[in-house]
Amino acid sequence: MPGASTGLVALLGDPVAHSISPAMQNAAFRTAGLDLVYLAFRVPAEELGAAVAGLRALGAVGANVTVPHKVAVLQWLDELSPEARLLGAVNTVVREKGRLVGHNTDAYGFRRALEEGLGRLPRTAVIAGAGGAARAAALELARAGAARLTVVNRTPERGQALVEEVRRHFPGCRAEALPLGVEMAEALRGAELLVNATSVGMWPHSEEPPLLDPDWLPPGLVVCDLVYNPRETALIRAARARGLPTVTGEQMLLYQGARAFELWTGQPAPVEEMRRALLEALAAWPGARERG
Ligand code: ATR
Repeated sequence: MPGASTGLVALLGDPVAHSISPAMQNAAFRTAGLDLVYLAFRVPAEELGAAVAGLRALGAVGANVTVPHKVAVLQWLDELSPEARLLGAVNTVVREKGRLVGHNTDAYGFRRALEEGLGRLPRTAVIAGAGGAARAAALELARAGAARLTVVNRTPERGQALVEEVRRHFPGCRAEALPLGVEMAEALRGAELLVNATSVGMWPHSEEPPLLDPDWLPPGLVVCDLVYNPRETALIRAARARGLPTVTGEQMLLYQGARAFELWTGQPAPVEEMRRALLEALAAWPGARERG
């Protein structure tokens, strides 16, 4: 039960009503016996500065920051971790000696889920998308030593811009951009991993035109989808039907949360409790019941 000395961890985003982080983090705090509470706050863009000032004034332990504030929040923070600086985006804020430090645990969550699913990090990958999620995936793969990355995007200029950014930071990585379409098939034949970092397949548009023709998925390819609602996207379903190994969005969600917990508390995260709470919260989501 929260009491007079309970510490606050806040989620700042818009919308936040369906966020599963409160369920996951409060379960973690309970399991670890910590006197902390995690609360979600819907913060419109024009109130973000005031909300961060509020975190300071209230002495909050930390925060998560989600869509659409991950980039805008940087201007209100005192310091950034190297990952947050590289990605230009923050999803976790930690108060350290009165200073607000911005971290990015999305990239960590992505890497950890891949390591768990694959046992290693891939040398070659195709990334679909060129938004914030694709950027985190591409830069993290390049940082982890990928030798070749292909960015496939509906709007080719955005794909090209991401490729140029990867090349600028990681000159040793051969990066190229392709338009969405049949050109992907060839790129996939030479890749170890496909990452869907577009919103294609996300509820409520889960069954809209797929990203690719499942026949383009070669044997041995690992298929990773950052979309976690529904838990089994059309892409993951197609990959599993072909017997391909998969890494799903919920695993990344779990590990970004676990890392954030560790940053706020300095303790190892109770990952299994968090996984249980996450799966329970996802099962109650709109869209989760569509396919039982
Ligand atoms: P985020 O920051 O979560 O990655 P975003 O910046 O809105 O979100 O990026 C969404 C990505 O999904 C983009 O790569 C987008 O392609 P465009 O750059 O062409 O907009 C992609 N996307 C969204 N809907 C799509 C669709 N129906 N078909 C193909 N790509 C789609």
